[in-house]
Amino acid sequence: MRVRVLRQLFPGSEPYWETFNYDGPRDNSIAGVLDYLNYHDDIVDVDGRTTTRIGWECSCLQGMCGACAMVINGSPALACETFVRDCKGKDIEIRPLRKFPVIHDLVVDRSSIHENLRNSNVYIGEYQPSGDGDHAHQYAAAKCLKCGLCLEVCPNYVNGQSFFGAAFANDCYLAASRNQAKVRDIRRVYADHFGKGCSKSLSCMDVCPMKIPTLASMAKMNR
Ligand code: SF4
Ligand code: FES
Repeated sequence: MRVRVLRQLFPGSEPYWETFNYDGPRDNSIAGVLDYLNYHDDIVDVDGRTTTRIGWECSCLQGMCGACAMVINGSPALACETFVRDCKGKDIEIRPLRKFPVIHDLVVDRSSIHENLRNSNVYIGEYQPSGDGDHAHQYAAAKCLKCGLCLEVCPNYVNGQSFFGAAFANDCYLAASRNQAKVRDIRRVYADHFGKGCSKSLSCMDVCPMKIPTLASMAKMNR
């Protein structure tokens, strides 16, 4: 099996494809494949040329941190939760998320997700429940990993400078439901940076690894 990886040495440098042979187990995850390819100090591409280790990020390796988000065979997914045996076709193609600046190879800078929340003052603060009472949905919304997979497929999210996307919408709901004093301010930033720009394609919900029902967060904010 061949693994094609879109690589980039440093921010702003020209990306290029490199292809590797993978003869490891099909039960491996894509994270396992990258580890496998990176195992030796000197790794070689499919033509026998020596190259450098592939840069990628991980922490938990169990679908709980979001660090390994990337595009695998054209679909945004967590590398540790995507398995070779489930990949269609005989080859695997891996590239970094496209909506964030590349730092190195498959490592991208997703800090805009957190910056947008911080700059909009979306945080829970002092716990004063707003009476929403839907603890099940609050729990679901709180599972957001800030992985950015939803932003990869969102037709309205470009670079995070005006429309902030599903991760922002869920955190708005969470903060508003847990701090009554902040509801008015949060409704305003929600409308400016999500409500006015969302065209309801709901593609975010298809790819979210935590299965967050963002549509319910939107309905609750509108209500
Ligand atoms: S809403 Fe889902 S896909 Fe989007 S950042 Fe949160 S966990 Fe990731
Ligand atoms: S390494 Fe944490 S989600 Fe994949």
